[in-house]
Amino acid sequence: MTKNRLSKVLAANGVASRRKCEELIFEGKVTVNGEVILKPQHMVDISKDKISLDGEKVLKTDEKVYYILNKPKGYVCSNDKERFKNIVVDLFPSKHRLFTVGRLDKNTTGLVIVTNDGQLSHRVIHPSFEISKEYLVKTNVEVTAEQLEKISSGVSIERCFVKPQKVTKVRKNTLKIIIQEGKKHEVRELVEQTGLQVQELCRIRIGNLRLGHLEIGHFKKVSLKDLDPVFDGKIG
Ligand code: URA
Repeated sequence: MTKNRLSKVLAANGVASRRKCEELIFEGKVTVNGEVILKPQHMVDISKDKISLDGEKVLKTDEKVYYILNKPKGYVCSNDKERFKNIVVDLFPSKHRLFTVGRLDKNTTGLVIVTNDGQLSHRVIHPSFEISKEYLVKTNVEVTAEQLEKISSGVSIERCFVKPQKVTKVRKNTLKIIIQEGKKHEVRELVEQTGLQVQELCRIRIGNLRLGHLEIGHFKKVSLKDLDPVFDGKIG
């Protein structure tokens, strides 16, 4: 394998732009085989040398990484840094070009998969895989029997009729809603079209993968195998 300049290798493996990588090297944040290297032109081979940034190993870009996150409020599922102040991928170490699999609204909390694996993204989002998602919704006032009935029987969103898979009233002003389609603002629309206001919205499950006790704002690195429950044996 050929050797290349350290700054070039860092940039090529998704750390940041070449210029930013040079800065990181000058700041003493990069080690090669345990030794701090201050010269961007230092020659390395990523297949043999152990390159780390802030103590975390820099991986080859063809390596896929997967995380599950309990998204906090105020973060947008987008990579458009120019447009949005707080984006979800900012919560992660900067070594990979990550994106979220599907979207939660800025003010929704809960389970999000974050990865650099485009194929996985397609499988979770595409309606043909019929992956259900479960949400807890806190409303401003108690949900009446009529409102529960209306939400269960479905509403029209952007001229499409949308019906949830299941709606359960778990407390006076808390609903559990399971949906499959994932239209924009679907859960909020379902609830708000009955006159209720959504105070809190949290996704607690994707397929058979549950949020569990992951705290808000925390994430966990997982393997592709750990994400099997998302698909519940629907695809190999
Ligand atoms: N439905 C919504 O309305 N918002 C979300 O964030 C997710 C589902």
